[in-house]
Amino acid sequence: MIKKEEQQALIDLANEARRRAYVPYSNYPVGAALRTKSGRLYTGVNVENAAYPQTMCAERVAIFKAVSEGEMEFEVIAVVTNNGGSPCGGCRQVMAEFGLDALVLLADGAGALQKVMTVSELLPEAFTPKHLQNG
Ligand code: THU
Repeated sequence: MIKKEEQQALIDLANEARRRAYVPYSNYPVGAALRTKSGRLYTGVNVENAAYPQTMCAERVAIFKAVSEGEMEFEVIAVVTNNGGSPCGGCRQVMAEFGLDALVLLADGAGALQKVMTVSELLPEAFTPKHLQNG
C-alpha cells in the first residue's frame, strides 16, 4: 500500500523530472517516477528525435532504467503531463510485462492527482509472458 503523502512525493518527483523532458517537436513534456517493490525510485522523461518514430516515452524510460538495474517488480508509477494524459498503448503493454497489479497515478502539471488505476485496468485482457508459457 502506498500512503497519500507517498503518492504525492512520487508525483512531485515525476513532475520535477518532467522539466528534463526533451520535447522540441511536440512540446508535450511527460515525467514518470517508478517505485519498485524493493523501494527504489527511477524517473523517466520523454525523449524525442528528429526522426519522429525514434521518440521514447517517459514511462518506458523509467521502466527500462529499472529493469537495466535488475529491478522488475514495480509497486507504483506516477505519470505527469500538462493535462493529466493517459499512458499510450505501447507503454501499457510494457507495464503489463512486469505485473498487472502495479498502481498507475496520473497527475496534471500542477501535480494534482487526476486518476489512480492498476495496470490491468489500463490494459484489460493483456497479453503477458504467461501466454508464451503454454503456447
Ligand atoms: N508520450 C509519453 O511520454 N508517454 C505516453 O504515454 C504518451 C506520449 C510522449 C511521446 C511524445 O514525446 C509526446 O508525449 C507526444 O506524443
